[in-house]
Amino acid sequence: MHGPSGLVGHRDWPRFKALAIARTGLGYYADKDELLADRLADRLACHASLDLTGYLALLEGEPLDGIEAEALVAAITIGETSFFRDAEQLEALIRYAVPDRAAQHRADRHLEVWSAGCANGAEVYSVAMMLRSHPLVGNWQLRVLGTDIDRTALAEAVIGEYGAWSLRGMRVEANFTAAGPRWRVTDVFRRGVEFRHHNLVTDPPPVAGGGSGFDIVLCRNVLMYFAPPQRRVALAGIRRSMAEGGWLAVGCAEVCPEMDDMFTPVRLPHATLYRKTGKFLAEGPLPDGDVGFHMGIAFDHLDDARAAMATLRGLLSTKGDS
Ligand SMILES: C[S@@+](CC[C@H](N)C(=O)[O-])C[C@H]1O[C@@H](n2cnc3c(N)ncnc32)[C@H](O)[C@@H]1O
Repeated sequence: MHGPSGLVGHRDWPRFKALAIARTGLGYYADKDELLADRLADRLACHASLDLTGYLALLEGEPLDGIEAEALVAAITIGETSFFRDAEQLEALIRYAVPDRAAQHRADRHLEVWSAGCANGAEVYSVAMMLRSHPLVGNWQLRVLGTDIDRTALAEAVIGEYGAWSLRGMRVEANFTAAGPRWRVTDVFRRGVEFRHHNLVTDPPPVAGGGSGFDIVLCRNVLMYFAPPQRRVALAGIRRSMAEGGWLAVGCAEVCPEMDDMFTPVRLPHATLYRKTGKFLAEGPLPDGDVGFHMGIAFDHLDDARAAMATLRGLLSTKGDS
């Protein structure tokens, strides 16, 4: 009844498309009418009495967190994720960002991380596992905040039970307990983990509890779906949320020219990370194993950082995977 092609030709299609992109930032759909119409058709199937004009009236009559507004967000967001996705980049965070921020927090022994656009939480728990296994900060007060625009994904994240697809490539026994055919993140890795609804385009950034800003922010595979203006808004919010000298990871394949005047790239052996300040900017690629000196960061515990990497490699072993 509401075929995708018919929807694209509807007189209210441009208005619907503009509303969907403005509310989510998903400029990805700017040249993908058929795909967006396909998602919309699924929503319209739940409102058989409404045509596109009526559906728009329903959306516009609701608050942004209204039932249909949320259902539309869940239908059009792309939530693909997995545990320890882009492991080399996570290794770079463990090896360079964590020891650097730990040096800043020697006195208060706390670290705060924000995963912006965390989908079903796999990224958040991966970070929690890495930090809890880290010899420098494992027994510190850790907070890992996961946020997303999609409440369905957040509900999954709070439950913290995963199937084989999210866990691909992982050794599950050490960090999960069996829950029927799924695996539940063990309690030790839930300590300090928190999930919250947050829209990177329309909401002010979350505030780190310690008051000095997030030490590390991951916003991976999110900005690539945004239109440039929304990307800039999201990045400015992320920057505001961060501690001076904090570290940012975006997706390995993400090219964000908007970052150029906001963050300082730090090119590491297997990943590029970004910092809120240029103070410790590394010039050119860094040699493996000698990074503390080149970045002007005191790595008193480089051996500990290496041990943490070994732990991460252990977590990633495919042995015993199911
Ligand atoms: C492809 S997933 C990335 C998940 C994880 N960061 C990773 O790299 O595996 C993109 C996530 O961004 C979320 N997202 C999309 N638009 C958003 C917005 N405006 N604010 C917050 N999250 C958003 C989606 O709901 C989705 O869960």
